[in-house]
Amino acid sequence: MILILLGPPGAGKGSQAKLIVDEFKVNHISTGDIFRKNIKEETDLGLKVKDIIAKGELVSDELTNELVFETLSKENTPAGFMLDGYPRNINQAKALDKWLEENNKEVTEVILVDADVNVLIERISGRRVCKNCGATYHVKNLPPKVEGICDVCGNELVQRPDDNEETARDRIEVYNEQTSPLIDYYEKSGRLARFDGNEDIDVVYEHVRNSLK
Ligand code: AP5
Ligand code: MG
Ligand code: ZN
Repeated sequence: MILILLGPPGAGKGSQAKLIVDEFKVNHISTGDIFRKNIKEETDLGLKVKDIIAKGELVSDELTNELVFETLSKENTPAGFMLDGYPRNINQAKALDKWLEENNKEVTEVILVDADVNVLIERISGRRVCKNCGATYHVKNLPPKVEGICDVCGNELVQRPDDNEETARDRIEVYNEQTSPLIDYYEKSGRLARFDGNEDIDVVYEHVRNSLK
């Protein structure tokens, strides 16, 4: 199974990804998570992308494609893999199609999770992530048992540097301009499945899992 998770920032791609991985055992490949790990570890890549990500702009296609294809070339999870946050523009989608063709692979389904702008802003502003294990919470929708502390590992919860309202609005604009044309791109090839991300996490997932069975 090869899945692509598409949707604006805050729609719930990461939240759905976790549930999909638990049930379908695919490998979750999130370009955003890989970039953030590199930033945390202060690698060369991390230093190059840190300011771009903090501003909510897109990392260059060259760097991103190289990172993805390097990751995919090592990928051998029996159940397959799921790309989250990639591709993010037509150029990246074409590069991915070329890579898949060369490697005799095909996308099973493109999962589009969308939500209203006010919902996106509220979710992004309220998101908290564990500094240590990356578990994701929301101050209202999915609060931890103890405020500011991760339920899973007991470490501190923090806000992503790009999770303030101003940067969230910029990220949504980038999505509308550069990423949303992918909806048409994948719809034309008959691989797109749309889901209403305004609903509760479990409700959205129930629809997603049914589409995958
Ligand atoms: P990335 O990490 O991909 O971020 P994003 O696309 O902005 O999406 P988010 O992770 O913010 O949201 P999400 O949809 O995963 O929502 P989540 O499930 O966490 O990218 C970050 C940056 O990296 C980019 O801006 C760019 O700079 C760079 N980058 C990454 N990929 C790139 C690429 N391919 N090319 C170039 N640059 C790239 O949910 C959000 C919150 O809402 C959580 O608190 C959650 O608990 C809550 N929530 C989720 N779903 C629900 C629900 N249904 N009901 C109630 N609450 C919910
Ligand atoms: Mg995410
Ligand atoms: Zn944790």
